[in-house]
Amino acid sequence: MIQILENVDLQRYNTMAVPSVARFFCRATSVSELREALAWSQTQHTAQYVLGGGSNTLLDAEVNGLVIRPEISGWEVVGEDKDVVYVCAGAGVVWHTFVMECIENGYFGLENLALIPGHVGAAPIQNIGAYGVELKDVFHTLQAVNCESGELIELSKLQCEFGYRDSVFKGRYKNKQVITSVTFSLSKAPRVSVQYPALIEELAKSNVLTPTPRQVAEAVIRVRRRKLPAPETIPNAGSFFKNPVVCEDFALRLKAEYPQMPQYDAANKRKKLAAGWLIEQCGWKGRKAFGVKVHDKQALVITNPNRVDVGNILELAASIAADVKLKFDVSLEREPKLLSE
Ligand code: EPU
Repeated sequence: MIQILENVDLQRYNTMAVPSVARFFCRATSVSELREALAWSQTQHTAQYVLGGGSNTLLDAEVNGLVIRPEISGWEVVGEDKDVVYVCAGAGVVWHTFVMECIENGYFGLENLALIPGHVGAAPIQNIGAYGVELKDVFHTLQAVNCESGELIELSKLQCEFGYRDSVFKGRYKNKQVITSVTFSLSKAPRVSVQYPALIEELAKSNVLTPTPRQVAEAVIRVRRRKLPAPETIPNAGSFFKNPVVCEDFALRLKAEYPQMPQYDAANKRKKLAAGWLIEQCGWKGRKAFGVKVHDKQALVITNPNRVDVGNILELAASIAADVKLKFDVSLEREPKLLSE
């Protein structure tokens, strides 16, 4: 049975720690509770919003509708073959805890994604990625409830239309389906993926030549702790912008003007630029404005030490984007989404 609460303070439910009040709020600890919550918002004719770990969502000061927090917990092995274990985790499982428990149990593939804040249910929405691995590389299927009919569906990797920080849940299925669980395809063999320069460097520092999956996870954790602020102490939502992907000709022209500019190969002969580098070149690294601060070790992260509201954060982001546009003629796209968007 769900409990609908009124005027609930959401500050502790978002890692940016913006002050926000939900007109209505409920937890859903099972598929049936989620259906109940969706039905309630239909009968009350109120908008419904889904909030996971709140690590990639920006909240408005007032959320006029029902905020549903999927808290479907637990994970289990649902199948296996010679090389692979299929592990299904509930949408409310804390991502990092899940990653570490998989390593402990000998299910490999998630190591590079250690310490990413948030819950399992949100991971497919933006196809989380770090240190050379994306969620889609270990994804098998997911289960979701249709907001209107309450029907439970299963989606394959293809149907999720994963892209760089993108999926069908940011497009066609936005506000239409709520993810209830995700099934991963994990390797029984301790295979590791060590291609990302920062990760290679970190392992070399500790003289690890053939790292185990646990050592890879530990190296990722060390790199993240050094560069990225821990949301518990300095509120933030990770990378605030996506790395822009531009056409090859334009990338070449930029490279001619700025030989130090990092550029990476992307799909369809395009090039991905490092937004953090562009922002730093515009002088924003470590700078404060509107009560908000650009992180001093990674310019792609906006922090909210004074716990001010979302308007200030968006103003700072707009100033940064305007400067990058002016200097490089590159448009930055915001990464965390506004709940009301
Ligand atoms: N750089 C700068 N100045 C900065 C930040 C970065 O010059 O202030 C340069 C770095 O020196 C490097 C390049 O930019 O040459 C890329 O930096 P980094 O390796 O730190 O990665 P990123 O592109 O800034 C992306 C993801 C992160 C992920 C890391 C590691 C996006 C939007 N961000 O950051 O994801 O952890 O790679 O794989 O793709 C997140 O999505 O919230 C997130 C933290």
